[in-house]
Amino acid sequence: TGRLTKALQLTLAVIKPDAIAHPVIAEAIHQTILDNNFVIVRCKDLVWKRQDSERFYAEHSERFFYQRLVEFMSSGPMRAYVLAREDAVRHWRDLMGPTKVFQARYTSPACIRARFGLTDTRNTTHGSDSPESAQREISFFFPDFNVEQWLKKEEPLFR
Ligand code: PPS
Repeated sequence: TGRLTKALQLTLAVIKPDAIAHPVIAEAIHQTILDNNFVIVRCKDLVWKRQDSERFYAEHSERFFYQRLVEFMSSGPMRAYVLAREDAVRHWRDLMGPTKVFQARYTSPACIRARFGLTDTRNTTHGSDSPESAQREISFFFPDFNVEQWLKKEEPLFR
């Protein structure tokens, strides 16, 4: 009883500069995190240099939107979270909803991007797309944080 049916996971969640610029929106997103039974393991505010942004999104460097994405993500403060819960990766992505805001509004009006997103660039939030990318992205934002060690130590306390 009380045993997790799905594995405890960590994911990286980011509130992007468009949403941090509006404290009421940032607070509503933070509340959505709490309402959905995530444990906030780490949280920090930061500003990227353009170079950080380029490195983080390197896999998209050939896409038409790369420059605007890189520019936007280094345009002001953002907030990064390490979040824990069972099935955290998928759960946070479901809460964000589709990348494209107009699609989000059409298919899932209750999701974060539908509620607060402005454009395909200013779409409020980021989330890792797999446990493997979560590990990479958590290290990117929190270099001192060891995912495997954390899970080993904390998993029993979530049962
Ligand atoms: S894909 O096709 O699945 O690889 O693309 P996707 O994962 O949806 O998007 C990758 C990241 O690029 C951002 N993105 C954009 N930025 C600016 N303009 C446009 N048109 C655009 N389309 C996608 C998208 O938000 C993803 O970044 P993150 O940080 O993961 O949200």
